[in-house]
Amino acid sequence: MNHFQYKDGVLHAEDVSLDALAQSVGTPFYCYSTATLSRHFQVFKAALPPSALIAYAMKANDNLAVLKTLANLGAGADIVSGGELRKALAAGIPGERIVFSGVGKSREEMRAALEANIFQFNVESEPELEALDSVARDMGRKAPVTIRVNPDVDALTHAKISTGKGENKFGVPIDWVPGLATRASKMDGIRLVGVATHIGSQLTNLEPLRAAWGKIIALIADLRAAGHKIERCDLGGGLGVPYELDNAPPPEPELYGRLVAELTKGLDVKLVFEPGRLIVANAGILVSRVLYVKPGAAKNFLVLDAAMNDLIRPAMYDAHHDIVPVRDPGAAPKLQRYDVVGPICETGDLFAHDRDLPGAKAGDLMALMTAGAYGAVMSSSYNARLPAPEVLVSGQKWSVVRPRITYEALIALDRIPDWLEDGERTQPG
Ligand code: LLP
Repeated sequence: MNHFQYKDGVLHAEDVSLDALAQSVGTPFYCYSTATLSRHFQVFKAALPPSALIAYAMKANDNLAVLKTLANLGAGADIVSGGELRKALAAGIPGERIVFSGVGKSREEMRAALEANIFQFNVESEPELEALDSVARDMGRKAPVTIRVNPDVDALTHAKISTGKGENKFGVPIDWVPGLATRASKMDGIRLVGVATHIGSQLTNLEPLRAAWGKIIALIADLRAAGHKIERCDLGGGLGVPYELDNAPPPEPELYGRLVAELTKGLDVKLVFEPGRLIVANAGILVSRVLYVKPGAAKNFLVLDAAMNDLIRPAMYDAHHDIVPVRDPGAAPKLQRYDVVGPICETGDLFAHDRDLPGAKAGDLMALMTAGAYGAVMSSSYNARLPAPEVLVSGQKWSVVRPRITYEALIALDRIPDWLEDGERTQPG
């Protein structure tokens, strides 16, 4: 369910016309719906025990306005860098609702997170545990730690976003966890509080979660039997979203919640979840204008003014995003088959292959749907393009929550060293 619907023949974000927004902010731009964000957070939260911490995985969309919207609803944050820590704090997410994941936390990042009194560090290896112990001891502190477990389960998702198999870089192999827990319990800078896992993203089947969580829960019993006080269990993120409206949708949060309840019954732990995509994906779209309808020898191309620098998911994961015209094409439009592409000089700069869309012309606005997660956050200025700005809508209100930078600002990021300034030639001729 999202709040992008046609009204009076024009696609709206809640009560705001995307045509009018395009006139005001220019294209391409991202547009997020507050009502959708809030709804998704609340539906997910309602499916889980009230005491659970929902640490939104902000890597999916770290715009401060999005974070603030979720923070106001009680969300915590799952962070993976010092930069995300700063953004979470800047958006008003308190340290006590912040979880720090990731295989490569630096000592500086650990220090900053300890200073912010974060809720827990999900530690992924013995060397990382040693580093955290030493940083915490230097500060006279004890870091709250869960061990992230690699359960060696195939999440049945795209290989590039699968994280729970033995060969993946994530987590500690499950058989090694008891040994590492014993080490942790002897470290003065560490307070072992629990275990964590996250097996992958865009999961459309609950069975891998059942398998992984089953192993984690059995592990908790072993750890407790060995004398460890296991009071928290972080079950990660990963629940998928429907990218194609005519597809069988992934399991609803309610079903996911039922699985959690079934497996954790009587476990006596505080549960932590790290959903990202589920909260924001369908709350965002990328609006773009058709530059040209380019006839080709083999096919017709719809050349948009958005490109892979704005939304890299199709190029990187062959991801599908529905594409709809901003002007309502009516009930039975005449369809044309297009490759939908951007202006970047790579064949991979392609949003859709052989897509049947209502016949389009230059100047038409198109919306790439389900672009709120891993969209703007993964954008770049490749080809010296200005990343798309971001707009947040709430009812009839809208606000540019990240402006388009200027070419001057883009150019000012670089420096020309003195020795080049005087025009000295380093090559003959
Ligand atoms: N927790 C951890 C430790 C993670 O690594 C991730 C995602 C999440 C939670 C959130 O997972 P979600 O609920 O969003 O599935 N760029 C890719 C997705 C990368 C996911 C990375 N980790 C994409 O566009 O599909």
